[in-house]
Amino acid sequence: MAEKRILCVGLVCLDIISVVDRYPEEDTDTRCHSQRWQRGGNASNTCTVLSLLGAPCAFMGSLAPGHAANFVRDDFKLYKVDLAHVAEHPACALPISVVISNTTAGTRTILHAASNLPDVTDADFEKVNLSQYKWIHWEGRNASEQVKMIRRVEEHNQTRLESQRIGTSVEVEKPRPELYQLFGYGDVVFVSKDVAKDLGFCSASEAVKGLYRRVKPGATVICAWAEHGADAMGPDGTLVHSDACPPDDVVDTLGAGDTFNASVILALSRGRPLHEAIAYGCQVAGRKCGVHGYDGIV
Ligand code: FRU
Repeated sequence: MAEKRILCVGLVCLDIISVVDRYPEEDTDTRCHSQRWQRGGNASNTCTVLSLLGAPCAFMGSLAPGHAANFVRDDFKLYKVDLAHVAEHPACALPISVVISNTTAGTRTILHAASNLPDVTDADFEKVNLSQYKWIHWEGRNASEQVKMIRRVEEHNQTRLESQRIGTSVEVEKPRPELYQLFGYGDVVFVSKDVAKDLGFCSASEAVKGLYRRVKPGATVICAWAEHGADAMGPDGTLVHSDACPPDDVVDTLGAGDTFNASVILALSRGRPLHEAIAYGCQVAGRKCGVHGYDGIV
């Protein structure tokens, strides 16, 4: 039987990326190394990586008409990401991010224009045939709606045998208090360094230990902290750590977190233990930082 798919719910946008070796000074007119369009958005990037790693996957999010949307739609096809659950909004525009990727510093600066595109709702999610998925991941956005979606999956799981249950994960990446209600949902909670710092934690291990009591009983909390690697705590309450695996040359860190999430989700969905899953996440995210974009991470 074919492996069931992984569904990622969240944002797709267009990233317009300029590659520089020095961050431009304000009010100057300079040249960059290169410029490219790339499909972006956390859930969309996570799908790209899942696909490259050989996992069948689908994206659920909103799309609009226009050049940017046509570009991202074609790119999803190129990476074999299923778009059956995309919500079309004819009167809206796709969000666009302008990204400066600094190859010397290994940093990326994002300027995001959110546009008028609404997020998918529980009413959209209700139409999804859940039995085709083995894992569903939510990029934390419209949290109250997403809580309803996760509850729906929990209800579905209650009537299924263990082997037929859908694994769930949520990503709390932006330091926005309305997203913090998501800590209490999902089998796996990914917390970003930005959110951990916003909550007063100074390291991944502190964040994981501190947030463990806020996740649902039996859930796992994971925090990646750039060059310091990642820490996690699962149902048995043991803290696990993986060092980062930086490439010789860091050239592009855009989407490194989304790459980490994809690799960890894939490993966990295939039954790998937590310490292996975060080590794999660090390896693949490290490889991503050594290439522009995502091709070449496998
Ligand atoms: C990277 C990313 C970009 C996008 C931005 C949106 O994680 O998803 O692709 O422009 O973040 O916040």
